[in-house]
Amino acid sequence: MSALFISGSTSLHSKTDIVLNILQQELAEQGLASERLSPRDFEPSALINLNFSDAAIIRFQRKVQQAQVIVIGTPIYQASFSGSLKLLLDVIPERGLHHKIVLALATAGSDSHLLVPDYTLKPIFSALGATHLLRSLYVNSREITVTPNGEYLIPDPIRARLQDSAAQIIAALNPEHSAHLDPGGLTGSRAEPWQPAVGLNKPPTHNPTVQLQTVALQR
Ligand SMILES: Cc1cc2nc3c(=O)[nH]c(=O)nc-3n(C[C@H](O)[C@H](O)[C@H](O)COP(=O)(O)O)c2cc1C
Repeated sequence: MSALFISGSTSLHSKTDIVLNILQQELAEQGLASERLSPRDFEPSALINLNFSDAAIIRFQRKVQQAQVIVIGTPIYQASFSGSLKLLLDVIPERGLHHKIVLALATAGSDSHLLVPDYTLKPIFSALGATHLLRSLYVNSREITVTPNGEYLIPDPIRARLQDSAAQIIAALNPEHSAHLDPGGLTGSRAEPWQPAVGLNKPPTHNPTVQLQTVALQR
């Protein structure tokens, strides 16, 4: 079993990549290996020219084909997902997400665009043949702080939501062992009432001194 993470961020110190990194670590602890790619791993001209014979694009298509889980992360830029993510989505072949477990994850500088992953990314995933969409995850990256020595402080509620997403992925891979966990996708196989993106369900922080954990960014 394998997971492919696609990051739509091209920032040098990407908050999206920090969040994706934590999710990758959570999955690794549960035995699911993953690899992450971003537009920076490609020749810009190959993506911009839609060069389908470019070796890196062919390798990317093969990785998408082989992965059972696809996690697509994006920063919110101008109230939408990033343009560079679209360049990567555009080289995924028709029905390339068929039979994949797909999770959308967004980071933003506010809570104003909570529904962007559901309204903008899920239709694209459906167009690419995805039928198993997990509940999207939205993280307000202002809650992630950087210490003077470059460490990232992740509040416990964000870490808890990432752990929940990891659990949803593992449950989707092992449905026979996880009947109690609802994948919660809009087009999931079970008819459950619609639930908002996880960001709306932040656990209450009764203790004002929220526990913080540090994470090192791996690229
Ligand atoms: C060009 C640009 C546009 C942005 N537009 C929005 C926006 O419309 N809404 C919002 O909540 N945050 C916006 N942000 C904030 C980013 O979404 C947020 O900082 C995000 O975590 C950045 O992720 P990154 O570090 O991976 O690029 C914008 C940031 C940039 C650089």
